[in-house]
Amino acid sequence: MQILTGTFVGFWPTGKGKLKFIRLRDGEQEHQVKLPKYMRAGLMRELVVGMGVKVAVRWHDHSWQATDIILFPGVELLVSPPALAKSMAATQPACRVEVCQKGNCRQQGGGELLQELGEMIRAQGWEEWVFLAGSGCQKACKQGPNVRINGHIIHHAEAQTLLPRLAAQVQQVANQHLGCGDR
Ligand code: FES
Repeated sequence: MQILTGTFVGFWPTGKGKLKFIRLRDGEQEHQVKLPKYMRAGLMRELVVGMGVKVAVRWHDHSWQATDIILFPGVELLVSPPALAKSMAATQPACRVEVCQKGNCRQQGGGELLQELGEMIRAQGWEEWVFLAGSGCQKACKQGPNVRINGHIIHHAEAQTLLPRLAAQVQQVANQHLGCGDR
C-alpha cells in the first residue's frame, strides 16, 4: 500500500459520464486515482476543488485504486508563499459554486459541467477563491443544468458563460481582502 497526498483538482469522468476517478495534484505531478463505488457518492458531495486529500492506494489493473481516503482543508498545501493574501480568502469562502448532480441536470450535462468548471478554475488559478462542489437537486430541473453561485441559481449553465461571472466575483473578493481596487 502507498499513500498519495495532494490537492483535489477534479473528477475524471469515464464511460457514460460516471465520475470514477479523482485527480490529485502533488506539485508538478498529477495522479488519477480510481474510487471504489462505495466511496463515489459521498466524495462527490464532499470534495471541493482545492481540498487536501490523503489517499491510501494500491496499483491494480493499470491504475491507482483508492482503498481509504482522508480529506482536509488543504489551505497550507495550496498556497504558495507569494499568495499570502489569497490564503485569507481561503479561510473565508469567497465564491461557492454548486453544480447540480441530480437526474435531470446530469442528463443535461451537469457532470461534464462540474468537470469543466474544475478545470477552468484551476486554469485561472482560482482554487483558493472559488469553492466548487456538486449539489443535490436545486428545484429547477427543467432548466438544467443548474449552477448555484453564492445562493443564486443560474439555469442552462455553461462553463464559458459562467467565466465572466466568476471572474467578477473573484475580483470583488480579492479587492476586499487586499484593500485595493486592482489585484
Ligand atoms: S435535477 Fe438539477 S435542479 Fe433538479
